[in-house]
Amino acid sequence: MSEIKSTNIHWHEGNLTRDERWEALRCKGGTVWFTGLSACGKSTIASALEQILIQSGVNCYRLDGDNIRFGLNKNLGFSAEDRAENIRRIGEIAKLFSDGGNITLTSFISPYAADRDAARAVHAEAGLPFYEIFVDTPLEECEKRDPKGLYKKARAGEIKGFTGIDDPYEAPEKAELVLDTTGKSVNESAQEVIDMLVRVGLIEQ
Ligand code: ADX
Repeated sequence: MSEIKSTNIHWHEGNLTRDERWEALRCKGGTVWFTGLSACGKSTIASALEQILIQSGVNCYRLDGDNIRFGLNKNLGFSAEDRAENIRRIGEIAKLFSDGGNITLTSFISPYAADRDAARAVHAEAGLPFYEIFVDTPLEECEKRDPKGLYKKARAGEIKGFTGIDDPYEAPEKAELVLDTTGKSVNESAQEVIDMLVRVGLIEQ
């Protein structure tokens, strides 16, 4: 689905460099890529983090798996091929948001290592930071939470190809941060991400 079909296209450089933009707007961009099982806490932590960052004056934008599938990615399902295209598009969009000077938070299951690596590569090529956060909440805990009742449906055979039940999740091997949310508050997990962002110099204390 990602073959290049366009012909006779030419890159149009703008009049501003990225540094000029970031300096004028006093911001810095980079992507924080949350990955993990459904109900592991990706979206909840990303939402809390977004609120904290915005309220402290840091430019930030959140891209959420379920939400994006209502619009831009409404034509994609959950086959391996569709998930790959979902993640390819989000990798590209996150790159644009980050180039624009946002801390870009993405919360997608993104179960395949190759798809996550491709998103990372797109950022590396563009000279933009990319941090993979593995929200490593065990399946048993996600299934216990089951806020949307989807695990129950998957166990009953009403949803086919559900991640963690009858579809794979390839755990990251080189994530910049691993969070286990079991027994932790949302704010504690968000704080761990903030500490990392401070450590790498993307935000100030
Ligand atoms: S991804 O695998 O392509 O990265 P994405 O994060 O966009 O998935 O969407 C996952 C969300 O879609 C889940 O949180 C859940 O609400 C819903 N969903 C519906 N069907 C499935 C399925 N078969 N596997 C996983 N999630 C599903």
